Amino acid sequence: MTDPVLKNDRLIRALLRQPVDRTPIWIMRQAGRYLPEYRETRARAGSFMDLCRHPDLACEVTLQPLRRFDLDAAILFSDILTIPAAMGLGLDFVENEGPRFAKPIRTRSDVARLGVPDPERDLGYVLEAVRTIKRELGNRVPLIGFAGSPWTIATYMIEGGSSDDHRLARTMLYQEPATLHALLEVLARAVAEYLNGQIAAGVDVVQIFDTWGGILTPAAYREFSLRYMQAIMERLKRRSGTKIVPVILFTKGGGAWAETIAASGCDAMGLDWTVDLGDVRRRTEGKVALQGNLDPAVLHGSEAAIRSEAAAILAAYGRGPGHVFNLGHGISQHADPDRLKVLVDAVHDLSAPYHQG
Ligand code: CP3
Repeated sequence: MTDPVLKNDRLIRALLRQPVDRTPIWIMRQAGRYLPEYRETRARAGSFMDLCRHPDLACEVTLQPLRRFDLDAAILFSDILTIPAAMGLGLDFVENEGPRFAKPIRTRSDVARLGVPDPERDLGYVLEAVRTIKRELGNRVPLIGFAGSPWTIATYMIEGGSSDDHRLARTMLYQEPATLHALLEVLARAVAEYLNGQIAAGVDVVQIFDTWGGILTPAAYREFSLRYMQAIMERLKRRSGTKIVPVILFTKGGGAWAETIAASGCDAMGLDWTVDLGDVRRRTEGKVALQGNLDPAVLHGSEAAIRSEAAAILAAYGRGPGHVFNLGHGISQHADPDRLKVLVDAVHDLSAPYHQG
């Protein structure tokens, strides 16, 4: 059963592979720098982390894209690096560079010092943002909560920030696998408690962002990324009263492992643009819903190109429920908001025939 109070429950229904009238759409990073109103609120907040730490401002930027576009969901405005920040690594977002940790994790004794943050005590600002957004949304659309996968969060903690080659994280994987496992274990516990905190605070769906799972070998993906996401999914309280909280697992670059991911315990799998949706649908035999997978660069194309590429994604998935439209990764900060409107409206207009009869 989907939450009876939601006015628009297309996303929940699609994630549970129940019939819908139109294909729901939301966009990864739908709140962000491509929107002038986001840049204005962020300037008012001072820094990106100040924006995350003030529930009213986080709520404001969460709602901004919904005022412009006919989206079927809101996503909590926060970041996957709130957990290592709460673990005391000293997080800063450096202008035009990205995240940087003052105290990266390099050794077994660094890992031994890490504790599992208490969601209410250490990440209360995120839970307060969830409660504020739920109140302001008034059940118009579902709210998506999220966290990073242990492996993806670990890469930032080990590298000390963003990295082109993830050399230090991959060195630890082959040189000190026990240290990496210890780090992933504490992160899996932290992520499970954090997501359960978000569910208790009111989120309707959760997505696990495994942005860097796709850089691993198939065997290393199973051992160092998927296994810990499975441990999280086993611990999630997916029923909250009468409502079911579906889980979306997004491994960027994970298309080759679709069958394995579909059997991992998720309700839906996010896909990037390197795979054909129809192909993955056949391979996964309707076991999970599929989310994706328009190339974000399509938004730099003409309006006609946006419509025809959207039509191609809908056709690739084909008829029937179980598809959530999204980009294959986050929207670019250089995207034109008017082009995103063309996409959202096209998906709603063009998808109705796939759900009739
Ligand atoms: O999707 C949404 O609208 C919700 C908000 C959201 C943000 N980050 C806000 C953000 C979500 C879901 C994330 C997830 C996230 N954060 C991921 C996984 C998804 C992905 O894109 O692969 C990762 C890897 C991060 C870590 C992170 N946060 C990096 C590497 C950076 C710097 C690079 C960049 O894109 O600026 C951030 C900063 C960040 N997180 C911004 C936003 C809107 C930009 C900050 C700014 O305003 O300057």
